[in-house]
Amino acid sequence: MTLILLDGLAVADALAAQLTQVACACLALEGVTLPCYATLTLTDDAGIRDINRMRRGMDKATDVLSFPSIPYASGHTARMAEDRLQRCWDPDERAAHIGDIVISLERAAEQALTYGHPEAREICYLLAHGMFHLMGYDHTTKEEQDIMRNMEEAALVEARTGNLITDEELLQLAREAMQRSYSPYSHYKVGACLLAADGRTYQGSNIENASYGLTNCAERTAVFNAVHSGARDFMAIAIAAEKSAPWPCGACRQVLSEFCTDLRVLVTWGDGQTDHSTLQELLPHSLSPASGIQDILGKE
Ligand code: THU
Repeated sequence: MTLILLDGLAVADALAAQLTQVACACLALEGVTLPCYATLTLTDDAGIRDINRMRRGMDKATDVLSFPSIPYASGHTARMAEDRLQRCWDPDERAAHIGDIVISLERAAEQALTYGHPEAREICYLLAHGMFHLMGYDHTTKEEQDIMRNMEEAALVEARTGNLITDEELLQLAREAMQRSYSPYSHYKVGACLLAADGRTYQGSNIENASYGLTNCAERTAVFNAVHSGARDFMAIAIAAEKSAPWPCGACRQVLSEFCTDLRVLVTWGDGQTDHSTLQELLPHSLSPASGIQDILGKE
């Protein structure tokens, strides 16, 4: 699940990461496995009022607006409508566009004061509310309202709001992955763990072959594992080996650069030695989707 922040008011990176986690938790709770994305516009009362007037003919400010892309059949939610989700497939984003959400940060701040909880919690709650609307939920009856409220609360718990993994935990996941290496030829075990923007982690290890050149490095195993599972945005990769600093090879740097711009690269070896760099430092001037290669070769 990707959340695309459209132009509007900015929030701190940590809150943006939390919002992505919440959106992912909503989708996971609903049981949708298809890669999906939604846009999010953060604005103030005047901004949300304009959008409410233009798109719904209602000239008033509110806390959150959601515009689903999918017309759900009565009583149906996203998990029962994968065929309709498929029709919203966006080849550029490689995900289904489930709709657009708008939140007034001004209103969120007021509501946070009223309810006595942090502003970030209120913004996360409003996002969860919008996400469930995008997935076909509504609150016209008390029964529907209770179901939706339970889903929203569960999503906030599931997202473990504010609880992104530490570097040491990520390094430990890479060390664990190293134990699953298949390296009967080199006996050089490597493990990797990729951290996605939504807080999820994807492990990989090196997998060798009797035809040596067909070996797959740990980093690429982790990237393929993650991308196959629908993740597209990454924040860090941790790589572990036994004796020396396992900086990624050139091929892995290139594969990482397909999906990551400012990725942190952490390495660990020996009895807990660590070092760090960034993909930008390890592979400057890289060839990536931003190089415009699609425009040169022509889109499918
Ligand atoms: N290897 C990795 O897993 N990652 C790298 O970045 C470099 C090399 C693996 C491939 C092979 O199984 C072993 O290390 C020796 O090259």
